[in-house]
Amino acid sequence: MALSNIQLTPQLVQAVRDVVDIVDIAAEHTQLRKSGRRQMGRCPLHREKTPSFSVDPVQGLFYCFGCGRGGDAIKLHMLLSGDDFPAAIETLARRYGVPLPPPRQQRGGPREPDLEPALEAAAQFFVDALNRSPETQSYLERRQMPQELVERFGVGYAPDGWTNLLEALHPRIPLADLKAAGLVGISQKSGKYYDRFRQRLMFPIRAASGRLLGFGGRTLADDKAKYINSHETAAFRKGYVLYGLDMAKRAIRESSTALIVEGYFDVLGAVASGVDATVATMGTALTEDQARLLSRFASDVVVGYDGDEAGENAFRRVLPLLLSQGLTVRRARFGENEDPDSLRTSAGPDVVLRAVTEAEDAVLMELERLIPPAVHQDPRLQARAGKQVSELLQSVRDSILRYSYSQKASERLGVPVEILWRRVGGKPDLEAKSQATEGRTGPKLVRSLEEQALQLLLAGDEELPRVEELPSPDVFLIPACRNIYRAFCDLYRDGGGSRPAAKEVVASVPLDSAEVDQMARLLLEGSIADEAKGLGVALGQLSRRWLQQRLRALSGEISEAQRAGDDDRLRVLLEEKTALSRALHRGREE
Ligand code: GTP
Ligand code: MN
Repeated sequence: MALSNIQLTPQLVQAVRDVVDIVDIAAEHTQLRKSGRRQMGRCPLHREKTPSFSVDPVQGLFYCFGCGRGGDAIKLHMLLSGDDFPAAIETLARRYGVPLPPPRQQRGGPREPDLEPALEAAAQFFVDALNRSPETQSYLERRQMPQELVERFGVGYAPDGWTNLLEALHPRIPLADLKAAGLVGISQKSGKYYDRFRQRLMFPIRAASGRLLGFGGRTLADDKAKYINSHETAAFRKGYVLYGLDMAKRAIRESSTALIVEGYFDVLGAVASGVDATVATMGTALTEDQARLLSRFASDVVVGYDGDEAGENAFRRVLPLLLSQGLTVRRARFGENEDPDSLRTSAGPDVVLRAVTEAEDAVLMELERLIPPAVHQDPRLQARAGKQVSELLQSVRDSILRYSYSQKASERLGVPVEILWRRVGGKPDLEAKSQATEGRTGPKLVRSLEEQALQLLLAGDEELPRVEELPSPDVFLIPACRNIYRAFCDLYRDGGGSRPAAKEVVASVPLDSAEVDQMARLLLEGSIADEAKGLGVALGQLSRRWLQQRLRALSGEISEAQRAGDDDRLRVLLEEKTALSRALHRGREE
């Protein structure tokens, strides 16, 4: 398991990139079949019946025509395991035998605390303590928590007393590590160390990859602080972690659906009711990072918050967050003042399961609340509701979904849909996850000029123009294409004129970006024979398009400078115009 305590040097990252085998990683999660130079299989990142997941061992890239995700081997590993980048590098380095640099503490300077052994030792101590505590076991029995789940989630017990853990783990684990892991504190009065968790039920909190990050402890003694968590550390930041995701990720991926609840007990209670795909935040409001993390595994989220006012408010806060990650959202109702776990013990697991499977579209529910039936008799109420509704709908990424909600909202509002649509429909759904893909009908090869040029640059066999002759990135108008092109040019320049491998270009843009998906698609979609132009022609056309656009803009700027009598500016603009006209002309003659 990754400690992520290593130094991520560029050499290490490069060494891992060089040895990882993308087929190896993919084949662990799906069955691949050879198909020409590629290997095809069912996508391990979403559920599908017909294979649309393609791997190119030569380029070291994958792309799924179904879900639109693509990238290199490291990204595939991250998506499958939930590892973040440092953890991915460490795991893959260990797996492929890349020597790791010594842990930081051995490189001189003060010793960095080593948290994971301290946390793992504590987890074992808590489990042992639970096994020796009949009272705590009967507490769990009273709450009807199945023994098997208690074990699966590693639930433990921190005994009453100030030094139980300290005495059990020290000196095997250095005090500094126990302290840094948030397991012990130092008394201000006596300067002595003491256990921070006392008489509490302990829930280990793990990253999606399974790495132990910390604990949440519930009081068994009516302490004012019902729960306390271990300290935030570099690895454990509550806003980045979802409790239970390590256990739930498989079920989430299989169903594309996740249930999100408020508490530790709710996760266990939902799992005990048959909903394995359950995660929770840890006492804080869901953050954008958590929503993004969830969107890596799920496409549909059921919000299962408590049925009280706090739960209602929390639901309203998370809805736009989840929607803007491209997730569809439903809402489960557990009844007034019930949470999933209390409902399980009062009404039975079947009732919880039914509440989750019958959860209804959360946006439609919100529209009903925001637009009460009487609204369309009062113009001011109409306007106010319209404003709130359009704010909500702007978060919906998929334009068809957004339109469909707008239609429903406009009916309730008593306002033509065009009016609402003008407010919420203006932005294209460039970022919608599967919008760029052709799905099951197989790849269609209608490409924009920009994509054709990129494809020829990245994978063509034509000789490249010299660096100085390549047009500026400005000629690419689609941001993702422009970024890919810029990365390509930088590598080309730094590489002293040899064509950068697609894999290197992928490695030089952010792994999570639309660019990586797009590049993988371009390269794995196959040949573009029918519409192939030469590279020179494609780049020439792009340059010309940009020159024409710039010339049009210039005319406007020139008349403005004339009107304002700004002679200096006018001169600069006219010079630029002459140069551009000349360049445009030259391009035509070629
Ligand atoms: P039970 O009451 O034992 O069923 O636990 P619960 O999970 O239902 O608790 P509750 O609904 O009160 O709180 C939901 C979640 O919020 C908990 O699981 C904790 O993560 C968090 N939480 C609740 N109270 C506290 C607190 O006092 N301090 C901190 N740090 N977190 C809390
Ligand atoms: Mn509860």
